Amino acid sequence: MQASEFYESLEDEADLQLRENGDLRHLLTLKGLDHELIMRLLDRSEELLSHTGDIPARNEALAGRTVANLFFEPSTRTRASFDLAAKRLSADVLNLDVNTSSRKKGESILDTIYTLQAMQVDVMVVRDASAGVPAYICRNVNEHVCILNAGESDVSHPTQGLLDLMTIRRHKGEFSGLTVAIVGDIAHSRVARSAAQGLHTLGVGELRLVSPPALAPDAEELPYARILYDLDEGLRDADVVMALRIQRERVGNLDGIPGIDEYFANYGVSHERMKLAKPDAIVMHPGPMNRGIEIESSLADSSQSVITEQVTNGVAVRMAVLEHVCQGMSKPC
Ligand code: CP
Repeated sequence: MQASEFYESLEDEADLQLRENGDLRHLLTLKGLDHELIMRLLDRSEELLSHTGDIPARNEALAGRTVANLFFEPSTRTRASFDLAAKRLSADVLNLDVNTSSRKKGESILDTIYTLQAMQVDVMVVRDASAGVPAYICRNVNEHVCILNAGESDVSHPTQGLLDLMTIRRHKGEFSGLTVAIVGDIAHSRVARSAAQGLHTLGVGELRLVSPPALAPDAEELPYARILYDLDEGLRDADVVMALRIQRERVGNLDGIPGIDEYFANYGVSHERMKLAKPDAIVMHPGPMNRGIEIESSLADSSQSVITEQVTNGVAVRMAVLEHVCQGMSKPC
């Protein structure tokens, strides 16, 4: 498939997720979500946010609904936060153990989906290493079933994008005056793609994507971003710095990518490097982190870091998304 055909197929996915009234039936990508809908989801996430040590926010929005978590790739944050979010909205929750499921006996993904659909599962939260799987499932489920993309290959991670936007908005307010630098393995990062799409829709002042040339994205894909190979240039006067994990499982061979020490020296986000950014710049990372490779360990734990806030915000965002899609379901509770 040509690059242009691939990007057109992503446009189709953006249409597939919307109801006629513009609300979400599924959530596959932040591409195609308008400013108003993203803001509505962020505003609701704020209302549902509970801080560490609080009794978590709870309601009965999903009482009578069933949410299934289907993670065909490893996860800690996304899986745990969807699980907690659904339970805090009073849903029944099924966490399918893929390693002991019939997929290990060769059952197709669609037969697994049809089986769960026959058990009245309403929402399926799907993570998969292959591009296109969430959209493929969307095209094959019953009218009342909703699919939420919990991380799709290197293509999309929309709830991560929303929690990143929420975290930036809580610290910085308006997006139009901000310079955001995303640093690291951009080429293989669904996190970078979703963050870039959301930041663009919300009118970010300047978006910089900083990586070694071998890990840079295709310029055609994100034409509104500045692609940079020099970390110092990328960090200068930035308001927000997001370090990305080196995606060893997706990189294949490491040709053209420096060794670990060299990588940290050239592209590691460190206290010293952060002196180039604005003094009140925040440091983000989606996790899991390779401490000492893409980020200096002590910086990740410093007062500049908002990494644990990102995790906390993730539960609220996933609650807001679950509420939103279930409000629009044809089947009453
Ligand atoms: N950020 C993120 O998606 O983390 P997990 O892989 O732990 O879900």
